[in-house]
Amino acid sequence: MNPILEILDVSKVYQEGAAKVVAVDSVSLSIKKGEALLIMGPSGSGKTTLLSMMGCILHPTKGDVVVDGRMVGNLTEDALPDIRKKYFGFVFQSFNLFPSLTSAENVEAVLRLKGWDKKELKTESVNLLKKVGLGERADFYPRDLSGGEKQRVAFARALAGEPPIILADEPTANLDSRTGKDVLGVLRNLAVESGKAVVIVSHDPNALDVAHTVVHLEDGKIISQEKPT
Ligand SMILES: Nc1ncnc2c1ncn2[C@@H]1O[C@H](COP(=O)(O)OP(=O)(O)OP(=O)(O)O)[C@@H](O)[C@H]1O
Ligand SMILES: [Mg+2]
Repeated sequence: MNPILEILDVSKVYQEGAAKVVAVDSVSLSIKKGEALLIMGPSGSGKTTLLSMMGCILHPTKGDVVVDGRMVGNLTEDALPDIRKKYFGFVFQSFNLFPSLTSAENVEAVLRLKGWDKKELKTESVNLLKKVGLGERADFYPRDLSGGEKQRVAFARALAGEPPIILADEPTANLDSRTGKDVLGVLRNLAVESGKAVVIVSHDPNALDVAHTVVHLEDGKIISQEKPT
């Protein structure tokens, strides 16, 4: 199987006045559907910058990103939103749910953006919530959900439109260890059972248990890459 996502010798240099920060330095990686890739590294090592380039929300200074065989650098700016919508679901540390919408409505909002028919919204949002084990919480508001449940709503939202790639930046950082493990289990299932390519940025040692490949970054460079068994 060909990789669904590749980054080829990618670098990002931020220019702040006279100061230059090399946030990501010549990194190459690839991931296939059904795999979970974990990116670890100290604060400031370039993890979020790397993930943002993988998700085509940040342009590399050098190198290229290949999504499903297509070189993103060759595409025009106005082609990028469609690539993002079709291929990527994003999950963040802070959940980013709309507080005044129920779980189902939070998912529906994204389905609507992706052009789903109004009549199918409710059924599909509940389907996606079931996939992350939250079918029973469709009509709950975020304030009535636990942290882990909120993060699972965020996963359901990331799955809206069934993108093949899920990118998660510190998805367990705001959760206690047990809830974090539960959420990581859901991410693993998305890879192993639903066939998604899952990229997780995390400091959480429990994330090692769900990853097929672990990459360590330091100062923007890959210092090791291993496959835990
Ligand atoms: N927009 C920006 N402009 C200038 N420098 C930036 C910008 N974003 C990030 N940086 C710098 O790039 C480096 C990498 O940042 P990044 O956010 O990718 O690190 P990180 O590994 O995600 O850290 P953390 O674990 O704290 O989230 C840091 O030195 C940071 O200060
Ligand atoms: Mg970060």
